[in-house]
Amino acid sequence: MSDDHGPRAERPPVTTTDAGIPAASDEHSLTVGPGGPILLQDHYLIQKMQAFNRERVPERVVHAKGGGAFGYFQLTADVTPWTKAAFLGQVGTRTRVLARFSTVAGEQGYPDTDRDPRGFALKFYTEEGNYDLVGNNTPVFFVRDPSKFQDFIHSQKRMPDTGLRSSNMQWDFWSLSPESLHQVAILMSDRGTPRTWRHMNGYGSHTFMWINAEGKRVWVKYHFKTEQGIQNFTAAEAKAMRAEDPDYHRRDLHQAIEKKSYPAWRLEMQIMPFEDAATYRFNPFDLTKVWPHRDYPPITVGWLVLDRNPENFFAEIEQAAFSPANMVPGIGPSPDRMLLGRLFSYHDTHLHRIGTNYEQLPVNRPRSGVHSYNKDGAMRYADGGHQPVYAPNSYGGPQADPLRFADPGWLVETAEIARSASAHHTEDDDFIQAGHLYRDVMSATDRRHLIGNIVGHMADGVERCVQERAVALWRRVDPDLATRIAERLGLAARRAPVEADAL
Ligand code: HEM
Repeated sequence: MSDDHGPRAERPPVTTTDAGIPAASDEHSLTVGPGGPILLQDHYLIQKMQAFNRERVPERVVHAKGGGAFGYFQLTADVTPWTKAAFLGQVGTRTRVLARFSTVAGEQGYPDTDRDPRGFALKFYTEEGNYDLVGNNTPVFFVRDPSKFQDFIHSQKRMPDTGLRSSNMQWDFWSLSPESLHQVAILMSDRGTPRTWRHMNGYGSHTFMWINAEGKRVWVKYHFKTEQGIQNFTAAEAKAMRAEDPDYHRRDLHQAIEKKSYPAWRLEMQIMPFEDAATYRFNPFDLTKVWPHRDYPPITVGWLVLDRNPENFFAEIEQAAFSPANMVPGIGPSPDRMLLGRLFSYHDTHLHRIGTNYEQLPVNRPRSGVHSYNKDGAMRYADGGHQPVYAPNSYGGPQADPLRFADPGWLVETAEIARSASAHHTEDDDFIQAGHLYRDVMSATDRRHLIGNIVGHMADGVERCVQERAVALWRRVDPDLATRIAERLGLAARRAPVEADAL
């Protein structure tokens, strides 16, 4: 495809039907004379209308508005002591990558700069299949159990009666879910309104397992640090940009790559010895917590560079399908319940959103060959020829290798099946890390903006009782933070209600 999207000098190809047959006109329907009716036999017109009526696939239920680009990941450090993943086997190796960035709550067409976490989804086309790391621009998340995810998302989307988004609904959920405060503090800081996708970090967020060639296991976290530097909009700048250019982030990424100003991120890993997990001061599998860097210092292991725009947005970005379940040998899940829930959810939603054989589409197709026993289904075009359709078989069908590719795992104590919280570690609570963020990580300006953003959001139609409950939770994060919010909301004279204090 030409770089120049303007008129071209050479003669364009003849228009055809989708069956490849030359079309008679780009302008006129087939009618009985100039004033007569349109004929049913104008199958070209009918086909155009039918195709148009079916142009949309369902949008993603979350992360609907986004954009993306292709590039590569280059390994710069020897990580073989920790993982046997083939694409991480040799320093210098480059692996092709697709990246998609997104907002979470808004629909297609929603303004890019609204306050929201940003998706940071990566697909590595490795020689052992596709590896998808489907993260956000925040190292933590709002909830720690997958059964709360749907309720959380509902609270961020639209009211059933008005069809409008509602700050009251959002704070109602958050103030009843103390585990969300750490992520809410990040969301309400200026990191909730990144200037562009190039100017934010990406995090795998969950804890994952790495396994080396000897079968030794470690726990890891991924941090993609922007080489462009962190830059955020203030709330006012982000709001102004909604009107000026609702597609600002999508346009920015496209233009940067078009101008060959390729965005890059440095991959830093935190690595925790397998045995540390049981006694670490925080539950290391709790997605609402970070691992403080002084406990597990990040190690730089590679670069992510985006250097090619999609040629067709629908085919390569809208139909892109990422799944946290796509992990290659040498990489595995952890006991993080959110991650374990996500291992089911994404393939299922792709089957609904795109179709049974979505993994055969060029953007999703593994570059390493597929030898599976799944067959048929709507729109299948890749097949195994006369390969046997069942295993075991005597006719040369593919054979799994349980020794080389055993499922990664961990020992689980024998226990009653129950609905209960994860094991509590000594320093686990819902406020300690948010308080540390507020007091020790944020600058005075960051704190001022955080308070202004929280107050602006909570003053937007949030009921008094919800405001009070939220302030009572902020008090447990930091008394100064709570007092400053309460004063600006006019709650200063009122003591937080007892039942909220007890949360
Ligand atoms: C139990 C928790 C979660 C569930 C059930 C869930 C489910 C989903 C679903 C159904 C989609 C739409 C996928 C599509 O239609 O293509 C999605 C997209 C996405 N989710 Fe989650 N999600 C969860 C938690 C998270 C977390 C914790 C993160 C980040 C750390 C995350 C990051 C993303 C991203 C980046 C996308 C967009 C992927 C793309 O660009 O296509 N999700 N999620």
